[in-house]
Amino acid sequence: MSQILEVLVQRKSVRTFKDKPVGEEMVQLLLRAGECAPSWGDGRPWHFVVLEDRKIITRIPEFHPESAVLLKCPLAIALFGEPQKEGFPGSWPLDCAVAMQNMLLQAQALSLGAVWLGIYPHERRMHALEALLEVPPHIRAFGVAAVGHPAEKLPLREERFDPSRVHYGSWQGSRGKSEKPKECEDRSEHCGGEEGRDDHA
Ligand SMILES: Cc1cc2nc3c(=O)[nH]c(=O)nc-3n(C[C@H](O)[C@H](O)[C@H](O)COP(=O)(O)O)c2cc1C
Repeated sequence: MSQILEVLVQRKSVRTFKDKPVGEEMVQLLLRAGECAPSWGDGRPWHFVVLEDRKIITRIPEFHPESAVLLKCPLAIALFGEPQKEGFPGSWPLDCAVAMQNMLLQAQALSLGAVWLGIYPHERRMHALEALLEVPPHIRAFGVAAVGHPAEKLPLREERFDPSRVHYGSWQGSRGKSEKPKECEDRSEHCGGEEGRDDHA
């Protein structure tokens, strides 16, 4: 399996962290990964706010009911978009989503754990986060990455590759019998099936 696929397969949302700070070097690597993201017209319409102050981080669950992970989390990176910099009308959230995913993958590669907490397109959460972090009016909230050293080892995920989602040439097209790649079968004995499933919306 390629190195990048290994990281992609191993990444899972982590919601319990050790009481241990994330070192500055790692924080910088997460930010660099975020800024490596592709963006429409190379607009790079993103801003990152690094949050390490517990007093601020723990305010977010007051307006985001699915962010209890932040109550015991050493680091949060809030991602904002600047629509004026987007390369095509409406593209800023797409660009921010790619930057967010890059950070999650970098976290996995550093043996950190992370979870994406959705803010956009929930207007109430967007306004609340913008107010909390006092961002200027032309900046819009996108999402928050909660990051830390994982407190538990999560079971490997069940295989997700679903050949029925792949179409060749046209919607009706197929390429003979579509099969799972061999490495998927190799890992199947480690996969928890439904057991390891994370049903968070
Ligand atoms: C746009 C988006 C918003 C999400 N929002 C939340 C959230 O608010 N709280 C949370 O605990 N997880 C959130 N997640 C994480 C998903 O629940 C998680 O990715 C999904 O259950 C699949 O699990 P996995 O990340 O382990 O593959 C979000 C993920 C995405 C992509």
